[in-house]
Amino acid sequence: MHLKSYAKLSARLKIRIAYLVEPNDQNAAFWMSLYQELFPASEKPAWVRVVTAVGDLENYISDLCVPNHIHYSMAAAVSALGCRDIILEKPSVTNMDELAGLSRLKANIFLQENYIHSDVVKSVEKIMHLYNIRVNNMRFVFSKDRTRDSAEGRGFTGHEAPHNFMVELPHSIALAYYFLGQGNCTYAATKNMILCDRILPKHGEGTIIFSHKGVLSSHYSNLQQESRERFITVSGEDIRGVKFKIQGEFAKISDDLIGKVDLYREGQLLHSERMLDDSLTNSLYSILDADSPCNFSFLYASTKHIFEAIQYEEYQEASEKFENQLGRS
Ligand SMILES: NC(=O)c1ccc[n+]([C@@H]2O[C@H](COP(=O)([O-])OP(=O)(O)OC[C@H]3O[C@@H](n4cnc5c(N)ncnc54)[C@H](O)[C@@H]3O)[C@@H](O)[C@H]2O)c1
Repeated sequence: MHLKSYAKLSARLKIRIAYLVEPNDQNAAFWMSLYQELFPASEKPAWVRVVTAVGDLENYISDLCVPNHIHYSMAAAVSALGCRDIILEKPSVTNMDELAGLSRLKANIFLQENYIHSDVVKSVEKIMHLYNIRVNNMRFVFSKDRTRDSAEGRGFTGHEAPHNFMVELPHSIALAYYFLGQGNCTYAATKNMILCDRILPKHGEGTIIFSHKGVLSSHYSNLQQESRERFITVSGEDIRGVKFKIQGEFAKISDDLIGKVDLYREGQLLHSERMLDDSLTNSLYSILDADSPCNFSFLYASTKHIFEAIQYEEYQEASEKFENQLGRS
């Protein structure tokens, strides 16, 4: 996906892909053939299996499109080779220790969070400003059918499936932080994913609620939902108390890239708009053009929210267990 976006950006930005670091021969061959298709006139990047084979990275940007559990070690490795600019996919790290480790690296680290750069989000923001809407709450749904990937162990750490909050909800948590700032977790719960022969704990379904100084954001992700669904609903009112609802549907990245925004006033549809929503290309452009809001402080704060939600659920479960034990004794 990143390579396709770089191809779209090649006319706007002077960039050259110098190296592909890929330990898997099949994946490297696939990537190289896509490269040839997208950049027919350009020399192929050098392919190495391990990043240390590249040598000095002082004048390079590293775009780390690797599984989450090696983000931190890869970022540390490229930083040790002198790399000063690193792009990290979401979720940037898998625990707070790694997040603290990232903060110690001597590099500019950007979070590739495409939804912040979505034209659907830009349209929602424009409407909020135009009608002077004060937000009462925001609802985010990021669901899809991940059962096949999960059955094949995609994104697993060893045999462990990623926590539901680490798959799709990093997008919505980043969006809530972008719109509403710092939040405190007030509810977090997950359900297991049940495959025919396996139970994947805390992987199937997740719900989180944050309070951002009294404004609520709710986040829901079902990874066993047959049809893919990604939307944001903003509910609020203007200074006279007129109620507004903005519904933004994100484009399906690998599909037609068409997003949609509907505006309702007092329950009546007032405006509806469709737009090209190539958020990944926008995101990479804004990072490479040094104009991205998703800098390290954004990455740190939004990622911390994910771990706070995970801890909140653990705390709730521990309290319930304790109360049950008390009840039985
Ligand atoms: N922004 C989005 O919408 C979005 C969508 C999907 C995935 N992602 C993120 O993209 C990242 C990659 O996800 P994925 O599902 O493509 O992962 P993946 O498991 O398919 O791995 C990606 C590639 O990394 C390679 N790799 C593994 N170990 C490596 C190493 N040590 N050095 C170099 N390369 C190595 C693999 O061979 C593979 O080609 C994750 O962080 C994921 O969360 C983001």
